[in-house]
Parts: sequence; C-alpha cells; structure tokens
Amino acid sequence: MKVLLTGGAGYIGSHTAVEFINAGYDVVIADNFDNASPLVLDRIERITGTRPTLYELDVADAAAMDAMFDKESFDAVVHFAGLKAVGESCAIPLKYYRNNLDTTLTLMECMKRHGVTRIVFSSSATVYGIPERVPLVEGMPTSCTNPYGWTKYMNERILTDAATADSELSVVLLRYFNPIGAHESGLIGENPNGIPNNLMPYITQVAVGKLPRLGVFGNDYPTPDGTGVRDYIHVVDLARGHLKAIEYAAAHTGTEIFNLGTGIGYSVLDIVNTFSRVNDIDIPYDIKPRRAGDIAECYADPKKANEVLGWRAELGLDEMCRDSWNWQKNNPGGYTLD
Ligand code: UD1
Repeated sequence: MKVLLTGGAGYIGSHTAVEFINAGYDVVIADNFDNASPLVLDRIERITGTRPTLYELDVADAAAMDAMFDKESFDAVVHFAGLKAVGESCAIPLKYYRNNLDTTLTLMECMKRHGVTRIVFSSSATVYGIPERVPLVEGMPTSCTNPYGWTKYMNERILTDAATADSELSVVLLRYFNPIGAHESGLIGENPNGIPNNLMPYITQVAVGKLPRLGVFGNDYPTPDGTGVRDYIHVVDLARGHLKAIEYAAAHTGTEIFNLGTGIGYSVLDIVNTFSRVNDIDIPYDIKPRRAGDIAECYADPKKANEVLGWRAELGLDEMCRDSWNWQKNNPGGYTLD
C-alpha cells in the first residue's frame, strides 16, 4: 500500500509517517517546508530505518502534483498540508483561505484525474466552535470562531460534497483535539516558529530557559480550578488513529467523521503540575487575562472512533509530558544538523 502524506514533514505528519512505515506502508511525503524542516526526513529514517520518498512541492501547484501522481501509484492520501496558526489567520485571512482551500481543491482534482479514491483529512475540534455542551459528539452543530477554523470547516464541506457526488470516493474526516507529546525517541516533535501560541510548546520553552514564565490565560472559567480544560492527546496515539482511518477508508465509501481525543479533560494547571512532577522541573507562571476566542472546556466523546475504527488513545498525560520534554531538551533549537 502506497500512501501520500501531504504536509508529511510537519508535527502530526511526521509522527504519522513513522507509524505508517512501521506498519509496512510505502510512504511518500509532499511538503513545501513552509513550516517544517527537511531534516525531518533524516529523523524518520533514523527511527524507522526507511527514508520516505520526498516531493518538495506546493500541494496547490497542479502541474507538480500531476507529475508526482504520474510517477507514483497511490492507494490513499492523508491530507495534512495547511496553515494552522489561529492568530495569524485573523491577521491574514485571505492567505489562509487561499492556501488551505486551494491545496484541498487541487489535491481532490488531481486524485480524480488519477483515479485515487481514498482520503483522510486533518480536521480539528475547532469546527465545534463554542460548544453548548461537552463531551463533543460528531453529530453536534459546527461553527467557527476564526478563519483558520473556517478553512477546516469549509474543507470538511468540500470533501463531503465531493463524496456525495462520486460514489467511489471514500472520505474520512478526523477531528483532532489537542495533540502534544512527541515520539519517544526524542528525534521528532513539535517545532513552532517564533513564540509558541499553544500551551505545551510554551511550557517546554520555559523549561528549557528560552522563555522566562508561562502566562496562564484566565483562572475564572467555570472549571474545577478556573483554568481552561482541554482534551490533550499524545501525538503518537493520534498518528495511530490515521492508520485505522486509512484501513476504514479502504473498506468503505462515502464520508465518515471521527473525533480523535482521549475523552478526558485536563486544565492548564493540571498540565503545568504534571509536567513539573514528571520531569522534576519548576514552571513559573503568572495568571493573565483570558485569551480572546478561548472557551472554558473542550473534550471529546471518542466512542465512535473506539467502536467503529477500533482505535483508542493509550498514552496518558505523564507520557505526554515526558515525551514533550524529551524532544525539547534534546532539540533546544528545534531541528538542527546533528
Ligand atoms: C488552539 C486553537 C485551535 C487549534 C489548536 C491546535 C485557539 C483559540 N484555538 O486550541 O483552533 O485547533 O490550538 O493548534 O487558539 N494557554 C495558556 N497559556 C498559553 C497558551 C495556552 O494558558 O501560553 C491555555 C489556553 O487558554 C487553553 C489551553 O491552554 O485553555 C490550551 O491552549 P492551546 O494549546 O493554545 O490550544 P487551544 O486553544 O485549545
């Protein structure tokens, strides 16, 4: 089985590449390295003993995509490529809509021309918008609070409509909750540009001394300790969910949506305290005002993925904190030559 991973050099893509290679798949990565390092390929090879085939291209470049599809014979595609920073998407929305929609449309047209009928898409729990209640179930109403989220929402729509019109298509939409952690080798992990927006990379950069203190955005939410509650999921568990999704896509047509989360909500202070305990590092923090656009609680009901895909998150918060730190301390400057 040959699988194309668009954006396969990114955080979730690289962990998924490792799991697919370990499961015996032939992995091809297409990435423009806009927000990823070419050194990821070396690291994947060190972990698995196999170097994925690489195409350095923009997924919105139809000619380059056609040339790749002409050369390779893909059985399925996992589509990760896209811009993903919430704040940036509010500042430059047109770039987000252009990039995140163009890539999907070009990819889908290219798949159609080449008779490739299975696609798994990287969606996000962000499409639940401001939820009326938790845990979140796939059938709940969707809406968004920022352009990044709307691009996920619109891509879900594009893929769903394409599968309605073409009875041979198989679309699996995976709604990720909050991926953290890293491969246990410490060779691949999350490598944000500039000052991190997300909680765990911020904590690890405080731990490694790159940032002085964490700001905790609000302690007056209606949650047990007042700080925001999220469903943090180990990126290796998340990557394994893609294997199950590809198997599902191979056996079904139409569109199916799955939450990929643990079903457990942890607060910001739970994460800080667990990180400190597991790694024996103090994380100094200050309580700051709420961050605009944040919600109090967001966690999954993962029952559908458990039952239909036979997938379940297995790694706990201790492992997530241990592996995030292992990656950061071994790679204080991110991806650099060994
Ligand atoms: C964010 C995005 C979401 C995206 C997801 C994955 C927003 C509003 N949402 O989710 O659309 O899919 O990342 O990239 O940006 N926190 C702090 N201090 C920090 C950073 C975060 O207290 O320095 C808190 C937040 O208020 C929140 C929790 O930590 O309660 C998690 O935040 P974060 O990691 O940014 O993820 P989300 O906001 O859930």
